[in-house]
Amino acid sequence: MYRISLFVVLISRVAVALDNGLALKPTMGWLHWERFMCNTDCDADPQNCISENLYMQMADMMVKEGWKEAGYEYVCIDDCWLSHQRDAKGRLQADPKRFPGGIKKLADYVHSKGLKLGIYGDVGKTTCAGYPASLGYYETDAQTFADWDVDLLKFDGCYMDWTLVAEGYVNMSKALNKTGKSILYSCEWPLYVWPFHQPNYTAIRETCNHWRNFADVYDSWSSVKTILEWTAAHQDIIVPSAGPGGWNDPDMLVIGNFGLSHDQQESQMALWAIMAAPLLMSNDLRDICPRSKGLLQNKRIIAISQDDHGRQGYRTAKVDSFEVWERPLSKNRLAVAVLNKQEIGGRRAFAVSSVPGWKICDPKCNVTQILPQYKELGVQTLQSKMAVLVNPSGTALLTVTPLTSVRRIHHLHWQDTSIKDKHATVL
Ligand code: GLA
Repeated sequence: MYRISLFVVLISRVAVALDNGLALKPTMGWLHWERFMCNTDCDADPQNCISENLYMQMADMMVKEGWKEAGYEYVCIDDCWLSHQRDAKGRLQADPKRFPGGIKKLADYVHSKGLKLGIYGDVGKTTCAGYPASLGYYETDAQTFADWDVDLLKFDGCYMDWTLVAEGYVNMSKALNKTGKSILYSCEWPLYVWPFHQPNYTAIRETCNHWRNFADVYDSWSSVKTILEWTAAHQDIIVPSAGPGGWNDPDMLVIGNFGLSHDQQESQMALWAIMAAPLLMSNDLRDICPRSKGLLQNKRIIAISQDDHGRQGYRTAKVDSFEVWERPLSKNRLAVAVLNKQEIGGRRAFAVSSVPGWKICDPKCNVTQILPQYKELGVQTLQSKMAVLVNPSGTALLTVTPLTSVRRIHHLHWQDTSIKDKHATVL
C-alpha cells in the first residue's frame, strides 16, 4: 500500500516533460542579452557588438578560464543577430557584416571547443527588437537551425496575438522534433500569457525545456528582488511543474556586471540554485572580477543547482525581514537559503535551526555552510540552537544532511510547515 501511494506521489508530482532527452538538469551557459543587448554598431564598438567574434571570444574564455569545467556548456546568441531580410528561399540569415562566416561556421567553432551553440527566434511576426521572426515559417526556421547544427533555441513571444501564443510554441516544438536533431527549447510562453490568464503549465512542460514566467532581469538588486517575489507568490502554481527535462526560468544571472554588490551576487547565485533555475550568465567573461568568477564557479552551489533529485525549492518562511528558501536534495538532504532583506544596519543572526526542514535533524544531521563562507558546522540535533550571520541583502546558504538511517521519508513541502507565519527566534 505504502509503495503504491509513494508511486502515485512520484508520478503526480511533475507532469510529463518534453521528450527530447535534454535539460535533465538545469541548463548552464552564457547568454548575451542582459550585458550586450542590441549593440549592432561594430564600427563604434567592435569589441562588444553582436557579431561572431563576441561568441567566439566567449567560447574561448569558457574553455580557458574554467567555465566549461565548472559545467557551463551553452554559448547563446540572443536578439539582433539577424539580417533584416530572409534569403531568396525564405530562410533566416545572419547579418552578413557582423557574421561573415554564417551561423554554421560559428556552431562548428563552438563545437570544436566542446561547447554548444544557442540561437534566438520569436514565435510572432518580428523579434522584440524588430528582426524577422517565425510566424508562418516554423518548419522552415526549425530546419534552418538544425541545418546549422544549433543546439538550443530561445524562442521569444513578441509581436504575436496572445490567443495564438500557445499554439505557436507547440507548433515550433513539433517542427524542432521533426528535424530529428535534439535542440533544447527555451520558451517565453507563460510570460506572454500571464497578463491574460493562468498559463497551462502541463502543456508548457510537455512542449519546452525551460520557460520564462516573468519580466526581463536587469543589472540591479531591485530587479532580482522582484523576480524572487514573483516566484514565491506563484510557487504553488509553478514549482510542481519543474523537474528533469523542464524548468522554470527566472532569467539570466547578472553576476559579474555593474549593478549588484557582492552580497547581492551571492544572493542571486544561491537563490537561482534553490530555484533549480537555468544558470545562464550574461556578463563579459573577458573582464570579470575574481570574486564574481569564484562565486559563479563555486562547486558546492553548482552541485545544489544540478542535484539529481531535480526538484525546485520553495520559500518556506518570512520572519523579521529574513526569507527562508528550502530545496529538497537527493539522499534526503536539504539546501537552505536565508536571505536578509533588511537593507539597513549590519549583519544579523538568524536561528537556522528554526527552519521547517530542520526536522530532518531528528535525531542528528550534519550541516555545511556554503555562503557567505564555506564552513563545516558539524553534527547537530533537533534541539541544537544554531544561528547564521547574514549581511544586508546577502544570503547564507547551507546544506543539511540527515545522519542516521531515515525511518520516515520526509516529503518536504512548504505547506507542511507550521513556521510559515510564526515568529522565529532570532538569536
Ligand atoms: C525580450 C526577452 C529578453 C530578450 C529580448 C530581446 O525582452 O524577454 O530576454 O530576449 O526580448 O529583444
